[in-house]
Amino acid sequence: MKPSILIVDDDDVMRETLSDVLKKAEYEVHSVGSGGETFSVLKKNVVDLILLDMRLPDMDGLEILKKIKEFDTEILVIIMTAYSDVQNAVSAMKSGAYHYINKPFDLEELRLLIEKGLETTSLINEVRRLHRQHNEENQKNEIYGNTPQIQYVKELIGMISKTNKTSVLIQGESGTGKELAANAVHFNSKRALKPLMKINCSAIPDSLLESELFGYEKGAFTDAKTTKKGLFELADGGTVFLDEIGDMKPFLQSKILRVIENQSFMRVGGEREIKVDVRIIAATNRDLEALVKEGFFRKDLYYRLKVMVVEMPCLREREEDILLLSNLFIEENNREYGKNINGLTEDAKKIMVQYSWPGNVRELKNVIERAMILADQTHITPKQLPFELRQSEGCFPKSMDLNRLEMVEIMPLETMEQIYLANVLKKLDKNKSKASKILGISRATLRAKIKKYHLSEN
Ligand SMILES: Nc1ncnc2c1ncn2[C@@H]1O[C@H](COP(=O)(O)OP(=O)(O)OP(=O)(O)O)[C@@H](O)[C@H]1O
Ligand SMILES: [Mg+2]
Repeated sequence: MKPSILIVDDDDVMRETLSDVLKKAEYEVHSVGSGGETFSVLKKNVVDLILLDMRLPDMDGLEILKKIKEFDTEILVIIMTAYSDVQNAVSAMKSGAYHYINKPFDLEELRLLIEKGLETTSLINEVRRLHRQHNEENQKNEIYGNTPQIQYVKELIGMISKTNKTSVLIQGESGTGKELAANAVHFNSKRALKPLMKINCSAIPDSLLESELFGYEKGAFTDAKTTKKGLFELADGGTVFLDEIGDMKPFLQSKILRVIENQSFMRVGGEREIKVDVRIIAATNRDLEALVKEGFFRKDLYYRLKVMVVEMPCLREREEDILLLSNLFIEENNREYGKNINGLTEDAKKIMVQYSWPGNVRELKNVIERAMILADQTHITPKQLPFELRQSEGCFPKSMDLNRLEMVEIMPLETMEQIYLANVLKKLDKNKSKASKILGISRATLRAKIKKYHLSEN
C-alpha cells in the first residue's frame, strides 16, 4: 500500500506543486486549504503524514497540530514555517511535530525528510510487531511445573538467559522439554529479537548437515550452483539450537568447537573466514559422558558445552507436576476443541500418578489429548486412559491376601528386607521407579537401601 500524505496549506500554487511532486514520488496525496477541512479528510482516509502550514486563515497552526495529535498520535506531522517563525517551530516540535522545514524550501530536501519520517514509522511498527510476536511465542514457551526440580530448572534458565555468549547443554530423557528450555533461554536473552535457528543433527545425513550448518560456496560440489548461507550465518546475532548433538559425527563436532572458540568458520568449499555472533545451545537425550569415554564424542567439545548444563527432570520423579500438567493440557484442549472437561476422576488421577511416563511430558500431553477425544462426560475416567497406564495400576495390591505370603523361616527383619528387595528388583528388571512405587517408598529411599544391601551389582 502507498503511504498517504495530506498537504494543509492555503497557498494554491504551493499545494499544487507539492501535490505533483509527491504523486510522482509514488505517494497517495490529499490536499486541503484550511484547518477545518483537515479533519474531514482525516475522518475519511488513512493518513500517514501531514505537511502543515503554520499560518492558515481559519485556525492557528499549533492548535491544529494539537488536535491532529489528539485524533491520532501516530500521524507524522512536518511543519512548514517562515524563516522568522523559529519560536513557533520550537513550540510545534514540543507539541509532537516530527520535524519542521523553513519556507521557501528545496523540494528535494522535503522529499528526503518525508522519506526518513515514513521509514522511522515503519521501523517503529516493525519493532512493535516483533515485540508482540515475541510475547506470544514466550507464552507458548512457558515451562510449567511447581515441583522443586522444575523450579530449579526455571531459575537456572533465568540465570543463563542473562549471559550472552556462553554455550548451553540441555540434557534429559525424551519429551522432558529440552526444546522448550532452549526456546526459553533464547527468548529471555538479549538475542530474543534475533533469529533462533534449529537443526536436528540425527535427522540429516552428515554431508548435508555440514552444508546446512556452514553453507557452501559456489562450485563447492556438483550441485552447488550458487553460494548458500548456512544456519550459523542466518542466525547471526541470535542463537543456534543443535538438537540431538550426541549423534553428530566427530569431524563436525570439531567444526562446532571452532565456532564456539573463534566465532568464525568457513563455508564448505570456501577459503574466507566468516565471522558470526551466535550462542550455541545443544541438546541430547544420550549420555554424552559415556559417548566421550567410548570415543564417539569429542572430549574438548564436551567440556566446552558442559560449562552450563540444564538437566531436564523426568516426569515420573515429579508426581505433583503430573496432575498440574494434566489440568493445563485439559484446559488447552477445552479451548482448542470447544470441550468442557473439568478434570480427571480420582481413579484416573491415581493411575496417572502411578505410571512411569517413559515419554515424559510429550507422552502425557498425548494421553490427555486422546482421552479428551474419547471423553463423553465432565471428567476423564480410567476407561479413557491407554492400556499401558492401567496395567501399572495392577501392580498395587488392592487388599493384602495374607495367605499368599508364605512364611519360610524366621529371620531378622533386615535380612528379610534384603532378600525381598533383591527379588523385587529381579522381577521388575531392576526398574527402580516401578520398584519404588510398588514398595511405597521414594526413589531416594530405595537407592539408599540398594546401597546399604549392595544390591546394585547383582
Ligand atoms: N514443563 C512443561 N510445561 C509445559 N509444556 C511442556 C513442559 N515440558 C514439556 N512440555 C511440552 O511437551 C512437549 C515435548 O517437549 P519438547 O519437545 O521440548 O521435549 P524434548 O525434550 O525436546 O523431546 P525429544 O527428546 O523427544 O526431542 C512439547 O509439546 C512441550 O511444549
Ligand atoms: Mg526435542
